[in-house]
Amino acid sequence: MTETFTGSFTQQEPIPEEAVEAALAVLRHGRLHRYNVVPGELGETALLEQEFAAQMGAKYCLAVSSGGYALATALRAVGIKPGDQVLTNAFTLAPVPGSIASVNARPVFVGVTEDLTIDLDDLEAKLDQARVLMLSHMRGHLCDMDRLMKMCDAAGVIVIEDCAHTMGAAWRGQLSGRQGAIGCYSCQTYKHVNSGEGGLLITDDEELAAKATMLSGSYMLYERHLAAPGPDVFERIKYNTPNVSGRMDNLRAAILRPQLRDLNRQVERWNERYFEIEKGLRGTPGLTIVERPEAETFVGSSIQFLLLDWSPERVNEVIKRCAARGVELKWFGGAEPSGFTSRYDSWRYADSSPMPKSDRILAGIVDMRVPLTFSLEDCDLIARIIRAEVSAVYQS
Ligand SMILES: Cc1ncc(COP(=O)(O)O)c(C=O)c1O
Repeated sequence: MTETFTGSFTQQEPIPEEAVEAALAVLRHGRLHRYNVVPGELGETALLEQEFAAQMGAKYCLAVSSGGYALATALRAVGIKPGDQVLTNAFTLAPVPGSIASVNARPVFVGVTEDLTIDLDDLEAKLDQARVLMLSHMRGHLCDMDRLMKMCDAAGVIVIEDCAHTMGAAWRGQLSGRQGAIGCYSCQTYKHVNSGEGGLLITDDEELAAKATMLSGSYMLYERHLAAPGPDVFERIKYNTPNVSGRMDNLRAAILRPQLRDLNRQVERWNERYFEIEKGLRGTPGLTIVERPEAETFVGSSIQFLLLDWSPERVNEVIKRCAARGVELKWFGGAEPSGFTSRYDSWRYADSSPMPKSDRILAGIVDMRVPLTFSLEDCDLIARIIRAEVSAVYQS
């Protein structure tokens, strides 16, 4: 009998009861705008920022409307101007080059390795082309952050970390988002905490924190923040920093606070599922497992494998056969962008030169979401299906 998986790859867990109660409390009092507080009240958004800063060991935190908004705000805060070049990953999701384009800057794409991380040799060769690197930890893969930071520090390149897929991850025990000047996170439904939409930005730099806060639309109400620098820092920047509204609201902040308290447990659950799938895929002929470095603590909210040097027709055949058995795989090698999947040469608003080494890898990247609604038995079944279909096409 041919096994089929009937679960959903896009179904997240329900919002925890405690978060639902907190959201109802906000709805009942009606003060959803973050600065709409009664005397003595701190407000959910300010509390969220205070708690996330403490959780990450950061001095400052700002909650905003999306991860992409956090990235664009970080670029504005570090002073990126129209026409500036910004280094970024060739392998990432569209909101990353999109954030660069949103400030009329120009992405300079850096290649991807078989570990699915930024190619540090390519980066080294391009470091003199920009003063900012927007480093995307795409699909939760952390590069050798020691080497990267050493190179960027030596070249005077500011690192902004896109931690949309690494909230809760760490490199050599240091939480992801804490190595660069600014760390940006997404709280969108498919990420590690779910408020529908939302973003968080952390930094230890008082001026960057003040600028980001003004940019997000604090008006002159910045003293209502609990994880922002003192008023003296705002005095220095407030007349020269525009308001580009993108605040978070108290409803979403209320939903997020209990989820963040539970993040470590969720990370363990994701990794149980990840390792179960990885175990089932290991040894499949023609399929390359992406090995994870020992220094990396990751969050297995998605899994990737490589079908390296396969023809597009055969990769497509695997995707089609798995889909027919209920297993939704995404492929980064398609000629056309589709769904969430696109690549550096799909973003035609930005100039790029061909990157043959990266193209070979992109052509082989197969990606799958691992929602927490999957049981370990689901993971075993999914791995069996992928294994069978990859083997069948490989041997045909
Ligand atoms: C790698 C990466 N960076 C940034 C973002 C932007 O996050 P948001 O959707 O919250 O704007 C996403 C979202 O899909 C992402 O996948």
